[in-house]
Amino acid sequence: MPPGRPPDPAIAASMRAVRLRRRGGPEALALEQIATPSPRVGEALVRVHAAAITRDELEWPVDRLPAIPSYELSGVVAALGQGVESVAIGEPVYALLGFDRDGAAADYTAVPAALLAPKPRTLGHIESAAVPLAALSAWQGLFDHGGLREGQRVLIHGAAGGVGQFATQLAHRRGAHVLGTASRPDHDLARGFGADEVLDGAVADLAGAVEPVDLVFDTVGGERLERSPAIVRDGGRIVSVAEEPSERVSRAPIEARYFVVEPDSGQLVEIGRMLDRGELRVAIDSVFPLEDARAAFERSLATGKRGKVVLRVAGDETAA
Ligand SMILES: NC(=O)c1ccc[n+]([C@@H]2O[C@H](COP(=O)([O-])OP(=O)(O)OC[C@H]3O[C@@H](n4cnc5c(N)ncnc54)[C@H](OP(=O)(O)O)[C@@H]3O)[C@@H](O)[C@H]2O)c1
Repeated sequence: MPPGRPPDPAIAASMRAVRLRRRGGPEALALEQIATPSPRVGEALVRVHAAAITRDELEWPVDRLPAIPSYELSGVVAALGQGVESVAIGEPVYALLGFDRDGAAADYTAVPAALLAPKPRTLGHIESAAVPLAALSAWQGLFDHGGLREGQRVLIHGAAGGVGQFATQLAHRRGAHVLGTASRPDHDLARGFGADEVLDGAVADLAGAVEPVDLVFDTVGGERLERSPAIVRDGGRIVSVAEEPSERVSRAPIEARYFVVEPDSGQLVEIGRMLDRGELRVAIDSVFPLEDARAAFERSLATGKRGKVVLRVAGDETAA
């Protein structure tokens, strides 16, 4: 606790946390008992109710091990550091955390208060936790980096995936003509999110399959990203969250870029409003208790998922 503020006796001095002990996959995770963090100046301590995970995220924190994974959460503010006035104790919140510090796969996490947004009223904690990283990636990829406008044509690789589900819905709502690639069993899911046309992810000749697009938003990488220039009009863009485009992909007259999603509570507020108005929905593939984090991370790496993988941290699952 910050100096001058007595510790809250309701908050235990130690907590459960999942930690990545060494470079590696789910086998390098351990459930440990560690000290509950104290919120510093400008931070809030959040009681985590649910935390969602993203494929490949265990590759991200290798320079600061041991590290707590999961960078998105839904929970309730439990304590405040000095100078925090934007949120109150007891307020339900959701957030994308920064990637340079411990994540949310724990009973509590200390978060800069500026990153917190009100949890969507109509969603429970499990669903809310599945939104921030994927929806902000989709929002920033389509609009901030991709410049997508009404009436344009966009191709979304992985249109039914964690990021792709939001990209498909947001592009559709923006009034774009949305094409998606997805594995065959997910074609109906992608159409349900608003894709006007769905192509098999394995289709070799994108150019022969559809008319050119203004933007490709890639969440898959590999062959699909490599084949993308053939389908983009001159002056169009390719934006990927999956991997850096190769030199071949980035050659003129197409601009290709990779970006890392940034926390943005203002965008999360707008996304929360869309969720509450029923204009966006979130697909959950599976929910695991915190103790089963290894199984959850294994699931995140699997093909054939239908939405996000979420860790249930607190026992209750309420919309309050
Ligand atoms: N740079 C950033 O800021 C940022 C932000 C968010 C995510 N990411 C990264 O972007 C990628 C997509 O994230 P996501 O949450 O959307 O993941 P996801 O749902 O697991 O995967 C997206 C799509 O990729 C294909 N896929 C699924 N599992 C796969 C696997 N094991 N190997 C290869 N392809 C697979 C599937 O498409 P098909 O069914 O069509 O094959 C799936 O719909 C991940 O690598 C993630 O780490 C980066």
